[in-house]
Amino acid sequence: MNMLLRDIHKTYRGPAGDLPVLQGIDLEIHTGEFVSLIGPSGCGKSTIFNILSGLEVPDQGRVTLDGKDVTGRTGHVSYMMQKDCLLPWRTVLDNAILGAEIRGLPRREARAKARDLLPLFGLADFADEYPSRLSGGMRQRAALLRTAMTGRDLWLLDEPFGSLDALTREQMQDWLLNIRNRFGHTIGLITHSIDEAIYLSDRIVVLTPRPARVKEVVTVDLPRPRSRRMVTQEPFLRCKERLWRLLHEEKAAVSGEPPR
Ligand SMILES: Nc1ncnc2c1ncn2[C@@H]1O[C@H](COP(=O)(O)OP(=O)(O)O)[C@@H](O)[C@H]1O
Ligand SMILES: [Mg+2]
Repeated sequence: MNMLLRDIHKTYRGPAGDLPVLQGIDLEIHTGEFVSLIGPSGCGKSTIFNILSGLEVPDQGRVTLDGKDVTGRTGHVSYMMQKDCLLPWRTVLDNAILGAEIRGLPRREARAKARDLLPLFGLADFADEYPSRLSGGMRQRAALLRTAMTGRDLWLLDEPFGSLDALTREQMQDWLLNIRNRFGHTIGLITHSIDEAIYLSDRIVVLTPRPARVKEVVTVDLPRPRSRRMVTQEPFLRCKERLWRLLHEEKAAVSGEPPR
């Protein structure tokens, strides 16, 4: 699986004027990779995922999957959007099967498959609960289960842990790495957290402020499996310093102040 974005441009047009959001984005994600996007708020990260998934069409540029043009076509990725979008009137199990159901899988079959996966997502005892009864971490896992149920090789996760407290967030990161080992799938992640990006990724794509361009692609030179201890060690800290500089140069450029 090779997913490529080539020279993607996107401008939102509205009554108040035009908003150029993406200005020539190139990006590649290969089988088994974990690639993160990081960049200032509002720079166009979610728009990139919307275009990768086919929900939005770029003004210019191509999305290809193994050489085939899939620009504006849906159905080739498992996508977890920025809001978890669990339906409050559906149980955990019935939320989990939503995507599979829409794709036409018979409900009974989808339910059986979701039930098998519940323990792996830490939701074994919550199949029949409604989302309002779940903790933040459990809601995220339910949304991820739904993403997993759509069964594509490439998962796009848009700030999946943004709303969680620090400790739960770390647990979810380790859990995600375990899940990834289990399924062997490819992951694209959007995050605001430099630490999260380094801890999870093989490569980190740093974006400029809007209109987004790729500022730099940083390769994370840490062995797998990752462990928490790494975050205090030299290679991690060096990577963190580099990313911090890349992101803060941008802030300085916007405010006109020199970086400190
Ligand atoms: N459908 C839309 N119509 C008009 N403007 C949009 C739309 N979607 C996003 N935007 C604007 O485009 C910019 C980039 O949005 P987004 O990709 O969500 O940024 P990010 O995910 O990096 O925070 C923001 O200023 C946002 O308000
Ligand atoms: Mg976003």
